[in-house]
Amino acid sequence: MASITERFTAALEKSEQLDAPAYAVANVLSTTLEVTGTASQPIQNALHGTWLGHPLHPVLATIPIGTWSMALALDGYDTLGLAQQRATGQAADLALTVGAAGAVAAAAAGAADWRQVHGRDRRTGLVHAVLNSAALGLTVGSLVMRRRGRRNMGRALSAAGWLALAAGSYLGGHLVYRRRIGVDQADRSPEPRSFQPVLALAALEEDRPRRVEIWDEAARAMIGVVLVRHRGRVHAMGSRCAHMGGPLDEGWVQGGGLVCPWHGSRYCLSTGRVLDGPATASQPRYDVRINDGQVEVRRVPEPGDEALTPEDIEAAAADAGVAEVAAAGARKADEVLFEHHQLLRRLFETIEAMDPHDPERRDMMRLLAAELEIHEHVEDTIFYPAVRPVSEDVPVAHAEHQQLADMLAVALRLGPSTPAFEEQLRALHQAVDHHASSEEQSMFREAQRLGETRLRQLGAEIEAMLEHERASRARSAFRALKIRLLEGL
Ligand code: FES
Ligand SMILES: [Fe+2]
Ligand SMILES: [Fe+2]
Repeated sequence: MASITERFTAALEKSEQLDAPAYAVANVLSTTLEVTGTASQPIQNALHGTWLGHPLHPVLATIPIGTWSMALALDGYDTLGLAQQRATGQAADLALTVGAAGAVAAAAAGAADWRQVHGRDRRTGLVHAVLNSAALGLTVGSLVMRRRGRRNMGRALSAAGWLALAAGSYLGGHLVYRRRIGVDQADRSPEPRSFQPVLALAALEEDRPRRVEIWDEAARAMIGVVLVRHRGRVHAMGSRCAHMGGPLDEGWVQGGGLVCPWHGSRYCLSTGRVLDGPATASQPRYDVRINDGQVEVRRVPEPGDEALTPEDIEAAAADAGVAEVAAAGARKADEVLFEHHQLLRRLFETIEAMDPHDPERRDMMRLLAAELEIHEHVEDTIFYPAVRPVSEDVPVAHAEHQQLADMLAVALRLGPSTPAFEEQLRALHQAVDHHASSEEQSMFREAQRLGETRLRQLGAEIEAMLEHERASRARSAFRALKIRLLEGL
């Protein structure tokens, strides 16, 4: 059963009667822009946020949301007689005025973006705009009333404006988070990490974009790349347009850029940067080289990217070689952790097999909680940081640890003899199994790139920490206290 808000937005999206007014407004906007010729392009780029690298509309929208909420709070304070009348009232008036200016700017940026959406999103966008315009109208009315000394009326109008703004913001959120309008839609796969042949150079005609595909094993998907031969050089970028996923390989070359056939975003051939909006995010870039008559491409990492290149992995292994320590005889880290996984799995089986009313069941549960916490602690502090240079699984593994800890907390709070506990225990068991198995099948394998010496050294560190965590009275007391707190004392 859909929620009331979902039903409301679904009804809006289906309202075909909104199409006629929506197209009328869009035509007025378009005609106004078209009569100015190319002069309007820089203005449109500025309004989309092409210069910012992110859509500008949501940035501006925070101004009325913040200031008008502030004014609402100040008015409430005033109405309750809690404030020094004049100063509070003046502050509220100022906040409303600043917010109104921000709302006008946000409306301009929003209109520029809205002109490029169609179908159900154009309908929702229209209602979003109507609600926000109503909010602006009510706020301006409120300011007029306040200036005339009719403060109560003024407060009522701005409060109504705030409600309209909240409803409008909800629809704005729907457009972004559900419908993904304004969200980067390019394929940002890190593949291929080293040069890979994709096409014979002879097959590439001047200024005729050609699509090729790269296999991304982790995403289990083909990633489209567009090749363009322009003035003797071959360029490559992601073929899925960052704006709304248009096919750049069906676009054309103009002014040193590749133009998207859907809404006309133009991307610099050599850098992938946006030259003209509505797109705001650069296209994924690829290095190109010609080898033996073949075009070869390699993905250029993005700023902040954690994608591993073969060079990173080599460097990590070389670092390890330097740290020659007396780790001979120690077991490898993955072996130690695998053994601990097996211990956790056995504990689950034992608890599941116990009679629900067995008083020892709670103690076993506490033992499991302690071992799970120790396991996560050891991995978080020793193993994960060490394998980060050779495995991309680490961020997901951290997230799963968090999820396991949350699930464990729920299980501890439930009485071990209740059906709810059985269900939670089963879910936790599956979650731990999934997590441990994916470590064993993926991260532990990738960890082998660190080399035998480094893994034995890590194994020794992990065994020492496991030993310390179990033997230390302070650590055990701390864990016991935490478990009691989670059980609800
Ligand atoms: S999809 Fe809109 S410009 Fe490419
Ligand atoms: Fe883990
Ligand atoms: Fe683990």
